[in-house]
Amino acid sequence: MTLKKELVDEIVKVTSMAAISCHKFIGKNDKINADKAATDTMRNEINKLKFNGEVVIGEGELDEAPMLYIGEKLGSGGLLNIDIAVDPVEGTNFVAKNLPGALSVISIAEKGNLFNAPETYMNKLAVTNKVPFDATDLDFPIEKNIKNVADALNKDVTDITVCLLDRPRHKEIIDKLNEMNVKMKLITDGDVSGALMITNEKYNVDIFLGIGGGPEGVLAASAIDAYECKFQGRFLFDNDKDIIRAKKMGIKDLKKKYDLSEIIKGDSIFCATGITSGDLVKGINVQDNRYITETLVTHKSSKMCKIFIREDIIKT
Ligand code: FBP
Repeated sequence: MTLKKELVDEIVKVTSMAAISCHKFIGKNDKINADKAATDTMRNEINKLKFNGEVVIGEGELDEAPMLYIGEKLGSGGLLNIDIAVDPVEGTNFVAKNLPGALSVISIAEKGNLFNAPETYMNKLAVTNKVPFDATDLDFPIEKNIKNVADALNKDVTDITVCLLDRPRHKEIIDKLNEMNVKMKLITDGDVSGALMITNEKYNVDIFLGIGGGPEGVLAASAIDAYECKFQGRFLFDNDKDIIRAKKMGIKDLKKKYDLSEIIKGDSIFCATGITSGDLVKGINVQDNRYITETLVTHKSSKMCKIFIREDIIKT
């Protein structure tokens, strides 16, 4: 079964309204309330839609998130059963500090087709589809991955660009990349966006890698699926609480490396609306009471990968 195209417009509206609702928090150094505004609105908007939805990736477990918690049932009912992954604000620091790249993100798939990811870190690898699938792997040494990408793209290693989060935990990787004289795009936050940069040559990123949020990994994977690029991820567990949760979610092998096809199956819709302008989409443009938003949309079954522009009149 496929997800109807009309649903695309509905989900674009959800992320657009969520983005608009946190517009007033841009640059207010208040990431908690920015996230709260987007979360409330997103939940409200999803509840207007005719389906039986369940949050598989959300704001946390019920004990830590009153809204959009994992397992929360959303939607106004109907025959369609779907899984929903949400990140009302991806890049809360960007909103708080008025920096580029904040997004409001959703991915949906039919029930049982979207991975129920634990709230832990994930080691990720995403590569452009111009590189053969087997040329890269999370378990290859970094040098091998870079060399194989360079060979496949017919480029010199020094012309390869790797995107990764600028974190102390990546010191060893960054040192190796420096030794190899590879170009880096070191992002301060927002690795959904970082991973998506391998989907189009215009972003000048050949490979995305490193450790970031697991839920963000699943969200990125669903868009990367529509672009037919490569994504692999392995969850990382460093405490008993997360291990117990993961086991409850049905993860038996904690060290398992997941290919994209195990993270998202069947048809899917991914929407990311810009809150502040970034590499993927422009941020919210306000003219009087008109809010113009840009949303990156993918719809797997219709092979749609494009940017939608919406205009909403919001009376304050
Ligand atoms: P938030 O928007 O929830 O703050 O997440 C931003 C983010 O940069 C993600 O894109 C990324 O996956 C994660 O945080 C990385 O976590 P950490 O800051 O702990 O390295």
